[in-house]
Amino acid sequence: MLADICKQAMKEGQKIDLSGCVYGKPKDTDKPSNYYYFLAGLVKTQRLTNILDLGTKNGGSIMSMSRGIHGQGRVRNRLVTVDIEYLNKEKLEKYPNIQRIQGDVLSKRVLKKTVESFDREIDLMFIDTLHEYKHVQRIITLYANKLKPKYIIFDDIHLNYSMEKLWRRLTKEFRDKAFDLTEIIGREAGFGIILWDRAYKLNWLKILVDFLTIRIVLTLRMTVNLIKRIIRKLKKLLGK
Ligand SMILES: C[S@@+](CC[C@H](N)C(=O)[O-])C[C@H]1O[C@@H](n2cnc3c(N)ncnc32)[C@H](O)[C@@H]1O
Repeated sequence: MLADICKQAMKEGQKIDLSGCVYGKPKDTDKPSNYYYFLAGLVKTQRLTNILDLGTKNGGSIMSMSRGIHGQGRVRNRLVTVDIEYLNKEKLEKYPNIQRIQGDVLSKRVLKKTVESFDREIDLMFIDTLHEYKHVQRIITLYANKLKPKYIIFDDIHLNYSMEKLWRRLTKEFRDKAFDLTEIIGREAGFGIILWDRAYKLNWLKILVDFLTIRIVLTLRMTVNLIKRIIRKLKKLLGK
């Protein structure tokens, strides 16, 4: 179950040394964010090797995921991170296995470059750029359909109304394949994971079946109500 996978990832992640993986400009006193332990733990426990991080900032999330890469995976891992800015150059240069792409995630150039960086479907996509429904939805359409990630992680799912709406829609669609990690991670702004169906694109059939099932149930309900009304009227007439 996804919840168990997440709990185990958090537990194992806390054992990983993430010193130096910080969100802001690195200072000696800075501590790694809680969700970095989860990301590193998930990479380790699920043996993920092909990872896309959208929103590099200072590299805290991608460096943490890099620390989680498991034994054998170290030789064949592919870690790609994208940001419109190019921060923390010096520190990230110490991670030659991390490929940086600079530019707008929604631009054709960046999409093409990112997709070409992988030679197979990816294991994880972490979306942490602009926390806004349409932006994140566009990322899903552009990247998930092409790279078919096994997992998609969304930061800040409870940050604002727009992200709440997106998360609500995703949980409705993915049900037990969506898990809200907010409590486990202790992150007020929210953190969510989806076990993405790699064949999601083909899931139109499922959507059609769901739609038809709802129509059938509604039609049946209406028919039953109509029959009940006719019976009531007949009883009234016969009673008279
Ligand atoms: C919240 S920070 C990322 C933090 C990082 N993932 C971490 O956990 O350490 C968001 C980043 O997204 C970048 N960003 C925002 N909109 C973007 C866009 N359209 N394309 C690329 N990067 C973008 C910002 O420059 C910023 O560095």
